[in-house]
Amino acid sequence: MAAIVQLVDLVKSYGRSADAVAGLNLEVPEGSIFGLVGPNGAGKTTTMKIMATLLAPTRGQVWVGGHEVSRQPAQVRDRVGYMPDFFGVYDDLKVSEYLEFYGATYDIPAAKRRRLADDLLDLVDLTEKKNAYVDTLSRGMKQRLCLARALIHDPQVLILDEPASGLDPRARVEMRELLKELREMGKTVIISSHILSELGEVCTEIAIIDRGSLVASGTPEEILVQLNATRVLEIRVLSDPDAAAAFLAQQPGVGQIARVNGASLRVGFNGDDQGAAALLGAMVGAGLRPSSFAQAANTLEDLFLKVTGQNGQGGAAGDGGGGNGKGRGNGGGSGDSSGNGRMKA
Ligand SMILES: Nc1ncnc2c1ncn2[C@@H]1O[C@H](COP(=O)(O)OP(=O)(O)OP(=O)(O)O)[C@@H](O)[C@H]1O
Ligand SMILES: [Mg+2]
Repeated sequence: MAAIVQLVDLVKSYGRSADAVAGLNLEVPEGSIFGLVGPNGAGKTTTMKIMATLLAPTRGQVWVGGHEVSRQPAQVRDRVGYMPDFFGVYDDLKVSEYLEFYGATYDIPAAKRRRLADDLLDLVDLTEKKNAYVDTLSRGMKQRLCLARALIHDPQVLILDEPASGLDPRARVEMRELLKELREMGKTVIISSHILSELGEVCTEIAIIDRGSLVASGTPEEILVQLNATRVLEIRVLSDPDAAAAFLAQQPGVGQIARVNGASLRVGFNGDDQGAAALLGAMVGAGLRPSSFAQAANTLEDLFLKVTGQNGQGGAAGDGGGGNGKGRGNGGGSGDSSGNGRMKA
C-alpha cells in the first residue's frame, strides 16, 4: 500500500537539550490506523505537530499526500486534521457554534456549515449536547468534540494526539470504535499513546519511539514476534519485593525488571525452561519465598517494557539490559526483526 505520510530523516531540536526527534524515518500506509507509541518525552507530540505543520522541522522532510510540510504547508493543512493533546477553554461557546466557528475558519459556506456540524455531531455521538456550552462537557465528550473539529474540512489524514487519555474504559472502547469507523470512511488515522496495549487492538501498524528514535515498528503481530525473543516472567514474592528485584537483577538471563501492582515483578528473561527452573530454585534458596512464578502472556506492553526499559507504571529497575547473560536477541533466529526497525537494549 502506498504511503500517504512519510518522514525522512526528521530531526527536531528545541535548542541545547538532546534532539526531541532524532532522525526519524516512517511510512504511514494509506488507509491504516497507525499508532505512535512511546513513553513521556519520546517525541510523539513534537512529531505530530510537525506533520500538522504547526511546528517547523529542524532537518529532514515530512511528506503528506505528496506535499512537503515546509514547502507546501497549505496543501498539507488541507489534507490533515489535527487533534491536540490538550483541549482549550471556550467560555460562552455552544457545541454547535464551536464546530461552525471552525468550519468558518476553513471557508466552508454558512449554509453548509450547519449541516456539516450536525453530521459530525452525529458521527461522534454528541447530537444531544448540541446546545450545551462546551465548557460543561465531560472530558470524554470534549475529546469527541475535538475529533469532530479535526474532521470539519474532510481531511484524508487524521492526527490524534493521545485521544484516549483521561477517558474511562467505556469511553476508550467508544473511541476505538470511532477510529474504526473513520478508517471505514477511508481516512488514514495516526494516533499516539503511551499505552501500547490499547493501540494493539485498533492499530494496523505501530511504531515505537523512545528519545526521538524508532525502536521497533510493524504490524502488532510483527511486533509480538520481535517480543518472543524474550519471555516475561511474572513473579510474586512473600518477602520484600525490592530485595527480590535486587537479587533477580544479579541472575543470568535476567533483563529489565518492573514492579507491578505493588508486590508483583515482571521480569524480562532470556532463557529456556531449564533456566527458568534454575531461577526459581535460586529464589527459593535465597529465602525470597516466591508464591507465584509464571510466564506472562506476551503482550505489547511487555515489548514496551523491554525496548524502553519502563512501563506505564514506572518503577523499572534492573541492570539496564547491558549485562544480562546472553545479552539481547534470542540467538536462535526465530524472532524476525528484519525490516521492522531496530531493537535496542
Ligand atoms: N516547546 C518546547 N521547548 C523545549 N523542549 C521541548 C518543547 N516541547 C517538547 N520539548 C522536549 O522535547 C522532548 C519530546 O517532547 P514531546 O512533547 O514531543 O514528547 P511526547 O512523546 O509527546 O511526550 P508525552 O507522552 O509526555 O506527551 C521532551 O524532551 C520535551 O522536554
Ligand atoms: Mg505528547
